[in-house]
Amino acid sequence: MPQSLPAPPDAGLLNAVRFGSDTFRFLEGVQARFEDGTAIPVPGRPPLVVLTNPELIEAALDRRDEFPRVDAQGSAAMIAEQGLVQSEGDLWEQQRSAMAPAFAGRQVAAYANTTGRRAHRLAESWAETGTRELNLHRAMTAMTIRVASEILLGEDIGRERADQFHEWMAVAGREFEFDVEVAMPEWVPTPTSGEFETAAEGIRGLSEELIERRRATLADGGDAGSDMLTLLLRAQENPEVEMPDEQIRDEVATFLIAGHETTALSLTYTLSLLSWNPEARRRVREEAREALGDGPPEHDDLDDLEYTKRAYREALRLYPPAWAVFRQADGDQPLGDYLIEDGSAIITPQWSVHRDDRYFEAPETFDPDRWARRDPNAVDAYFPFSTGPHACIGRGFALSGATLVLARLVRDFDVDVPEDALDDLRITPTLRPADGVDATVRPAE
Ligand code: HEM
Repeated sequence: MPQSLPAPPDAGLLNAVRFGSDTFRFLEGVQARFEDGTAIPVPGRPPLVVLTNPELIEAALDRRDEFPRVDAQGSAAMIAEQGLVQSEGDLWEQQRSAMAPAFAGRQVAAYANTTGRRAHRLAESWAETGTRELNLHRAMTAMTIRVASEILLGEDIGRERADQFHEWMAVAGREFEFDVEVAMPEWVPTPTSGEFETAAEGIRGLSEELIERRRATLADGGDAGSDMLTLLLRAQENPEVEMPDEQIRDEVATFLIAGHETTALSLTYTLSLLSWNPEARRRVREEAREALGDGPPEHDDLDDLEYTKRAYREALRLYPPAWAVFRQADGDQPLGDYLIEDGSAIITPQWSVHRDDRYFEAPETFDPDRWARRDPNAVDAYFPFSTGPHACIGRGFALSGATLVLARLVRDFDVDVPEDALDDLRITPTLRPADGVDATVRPAE
């Protein structure tokens, strides 16, 4: 007879998680104390389940019908309710298969090359001014959003709007700051703030504008391309597919956000870790000097950037931009030897599983070479892109693009970040630096 997961002995724990700043301490405590997970009682509601065992996590994330996503509510629904990151069921299935070709094979190379060109341009502009101070997170956002719009939507949104997007994302981050309530299926949203409504309107407006322009280009017989927006607009022309305009708008907004935010964060974290680990940075630089030519880095260079890839993988372990994935139990569900009660909110936390010494030797140490000894794809406890049917569709893009950016920038620059730059991270659906990351960029010797 399956049993419930154990409850924490100390009910005060639940209070701890209410405070954003304590969330990680709470998760690390749960991770250390419970081998498989815990079901925290919540008065008047099904429990909050935190899974700590990678096998159970994988089993839960594999079963999307029994453990679906928590419905988008309140502010989250305002930006992109019907987009692929928030949808479930038939709608999700239809969207995921319509979009898969935009993320396969040749498209990965195209994405990597576009990212390489953007990184090259950024490096050239850094080279013009010698040493400079900048907000690293802002710089990475501006670069990745332009790549995402160009590759996925067929148009570069330009520098000004990329900067504007960074502001909108900061506002959305404040709006979505994590509280355990947010993970609850029956959560009642608080009213949205005026500044968030403006940001959400901005993102929707920009999405509509991009769609209109793409439609006009296609109507004029312009470059058809195989970007995601073209695939969607083509699919909409098919009378058998029901795809209202709002759905396309939500999809574009989704990809503008999902396509750049986590990548910008991961680059910010990797460059920070490299700045604190000079030997690792030296090795990335040495490798990049051998592998890259004078022009923009390209997809073909990736084979010669093994150490850089490892450094990026390792940064995704220590600072996973998606710090946890949320699900809910639809009906009483067996999971391993346990029974998960209908309606339970479920957290599968990358943050604390990635730092568990049962699965990683010296887990707090930034050690890119651990990925020479182990195959990241074969380690259940390592899941920065999640796992199961909802696993990240952009994984190949992120891994290839980010590796080229790191190689190009580190080859020519020391990006130095203060030791405490990542002490104040905001726990939103992603893990975000509270006030940006101040960095000094100097030409490398
Ligand atoms: C370092 C970079 C990235 C990280 C860490 C990351 C992480 C994730 C994670 C953890 C999920 C699973 C969410 C869930 O299970 O509910 C996910 C899903 C998704 N990601 Fe990413 N992602 C990254 C880059 C990208 C890029 C570059 C794109 C698009 C170009 C993208 C698009 C998506 C989409 C559309 C989904 C939803 C997939 C579905 O539900 O079928 N991501 N990502």
